[in-house]
Amino acid sequence: MENKIVINTDIKKGTINKNIYGHFAEHLGRCIYEGLWVGEDSSIPNTNGIRNDVLEALRQINIPVLRWPGGCFADEYHWKDGIGPREDRKRMINTHWGGVVENNHFGTHEFMMLCDMLGADPYICGNVGSGTVQEMSEWVEYMTFDGESPMANWRQENGREKPWQLKYFGVGNENWGCGGSMRAEYYADLYRRYQTYARNYGDNKLYKIAGGANSFDYNWTEVLMREAGRMMDGLSVHYYTIPGENWSEKGSATNFSEDEWTKTMQKTLRTEELIQKHSTIMDKYDPDKRVGLIVDEWGTWFDVEPGTNPGFLYQQNTIRDALVAGVSLNIFNNHSDRVQMANIAQTVNVLQAMVLTEGEKMLVTPTYHVFDMYKVHQDAALLSIETTFQKDDISNLKNVNVSASKNDKDQTNVTLCNMKHDSATNVSVELRGLTNGSPSIKGTILTSENKGDHNTFDHPDTVKPVNFEDVKVENNRLTVTLPPMSVVLLTVE
Ligand code: AHR
Repeated sequence: MENKIVINTDIKKGTINKNIYGHFAEHLGRCIYEGLWVGEDSSIPNTNGIRNDVLEALRQINIPVLRWPGGCFADEYHWKDGIGPREDRKRMINTHWGGVVENNHFGTHEFMMLCDMLGADPYICGNVGSGTVQEMSEWVEYMTFDGESPMANWRQENGREKPWQLKYFGVGNENWGCGGSMRAEYYADLYRRYQTYARNYGDNKLYKIAGGANSFDYNWTEVLMREAGRMMDGLSVHYYTIPGENWSEKGSATNFSEDEWTKTMQKTLRTEELIQKHSTIMDKYDPDKRVGLIVDEWGTWFDVEPGTNPGFLYQQNTIRDALVAGVSLNIFNNHSDRVQMANIAQTVNVLQAMVLTEGEKMLVTPTYHVFDMYKVHQDAALLSIETTFQKDDISNLKNVNVSASKNDKDQTNVTLCNMKHDSATNVSVELRGLTNGSPSIKGTILTSENKGDHNTFDHPDTVKPVNFEDVKVENNRLTVTLPPMSVVLLTVE
């Protein structure tokens, strides 16, 4: 049996929300401090304290939305500690992540400035676990109220005359765990209460996101949708890819076995099941799909790099991570009727990062390149596809994974992943419904020789995209040979 894909280029299934290509930056390890923020007095070239090299790299991938300040940090964060003159800001302990001193130099104003520089929408996560209703309510007032009020006046004293536009607001994070160890029923009631006082001021309309389930905890979604579904715009879910059965079996990010490769792919493919099952529950309470499923933390989680602080979650990033990213993003695209946002964890120096830094050095990771290749899908129309894929004898997995979209220039973009690390795969792609009888094809590929290949500060271009030409075109049928462990973008026009 051959691998076959039929792409119905004339059947649009809806829009792939650009926010599926969102990112997450927490006060964790060297993500905010060192990774993004170095301060105005740093010898590392910066603009208003944000390092220029990282900013430039991140601008290239068109980050649509950025989630902050956590994560677990969000439910310990008191926003008033992070405003006003920096030298006066409170120094606190980041109890969750390494017990290091947090000087609060990066706060609300700095985050909003970063989003502005990136052209990204801010997504702020409020504190339910250890914060009060009043504190959350006042944060929204501080950021979005235009007129005279205690919080708006204070914002102006701190140098920001006009309110910011803030759409995405999360009411707590992982409230079943680090966000308060709550039961679903208790959190559902708290969600209802806290969100009441997160007001819409003027023309600022909040898109309120309720803290969602830990991976496959479907009861959480059931309870939240039943008790509070009508009071939310989005419900989150977190899912991390670890190769083992439990958190003690994460393994090295760069030095791993064939079995760990296969398990990583198997775990990534479970994203499909995760989305389908949470969506089925949501469909019961919200058949019109008004409430978005927000995958606001996802990505690989491996052992930290040897010799680094275990609380900093610093890991390298190989071609295996690129496959995880490519496959996950294809799955999100294909479920964009319900998935309205996804935020990979995390932007710089933490977990499955886009960028790694070491002092003044910086590199972009294989995962970054996938986001660069896949940005063509942002806000494009999802195309209907039919697939027939071979299954691997040993892993019983389908090794090819795909999504396709059409943009407003009438270009069809197809992203394909070959999850096999040791063999190439032939795929036949039929482009049904094309108006152009002799289409031109442009291809880009990300692959590498060895499954542990990654970019280092000395060799930053070991894994990078190149042109892909292994495509035969005959009428509207493409025959593609996908090399082992490859992510391919084909643009048809
Ligand atoms: O991304 C790291 C942590 O993973 C986040 O702080 C938390 O929400 C999740 O458990």
